[in-house]
Amino acid sequence: MSNTGPESTAPRTTSGVGEAGLRPARAEAGEGREADLERGVGEILIDEDTLQARIVELGAEISADYKGRDLLLVGVLKGAVFFMADLMRELTVPCEIDFMAISSYGAATDSSGVVRILKDLDINVAGRDVVVVEDIIDSGLTLSYLMRNLTARKPASLEVVALLTKPERREIDVPVRYVGFEIPNRFVIGYGLDFAERYRNLPYVAVLHADLVPNAT
Ligand code: IMP
Ligand code: MG
Repeated sequence: MSNTGPESTAPRTTSGVGEAGLRPARAEAGEGREADLERGVGEILIDEDTLQARIVELGAEISADYKGRDLLLVGVLKGAVFFMADLMRELTVPCEIDFMAISSYGAATDSSGVVRILKDLDINVAGRDVVVVEDIIDSGLTLSYLMRNLTARKPASLEVVALLTKPERREIDVPVRYVGFEIPNRFVIGYGLDFAERYRNLPYVAVLHADLVPNAT
């Protein structure tokens, strides 16, 4: 019998993050979730350090370009949220953010370019220096629609920053001012990118595991 059991310890508070007694349960839960998540991961294409280092560079570039201007970041839900949150913390210029949610009609795997606005901006972009923040540009059809739509609202300027682009898949030319990484024509998940709404919370970008890749029709 030990006299150092739970009864003999001082009551714990819920803020005791670093307390030894709380650690094992938390770690086990974390490991279990990770194993489940990683079942979807094929090959890691861009690791966390590489992603973050590139975001620091993009942040410096955008900060230099938008010094003294009226920057508004427009995030395209949902995938861009993760990139946008990290990118804006690298900006050294004042900026505001807003979000749009759009859904494309047509086939599940391929974008048709016919887009419906599910959530519009709250902020009026007229006269603003707008930078659209995208997770990935594939065919470019969604972004092309969005650019036409935003141009009609007469911003002072309109540019795009995309974390990823798949040049091989491009069907329509869209000028993208800032690009994080060019990637090959593979279906990727993580860091905001989903497969059936999952995997957005991976801290890196990975190719979806071959077992899960749907048959393109
Ligand atoms: P686009 O209109 O073909 O350029 O489609 C762009 C959108 O398709 C992105 O914003 C993503 O939501 C989605 N998408 C394209 N490629 C991928 C991918 O490899 N993984 C996850 N989502 C993707
Ligand atoms: Mg998207």
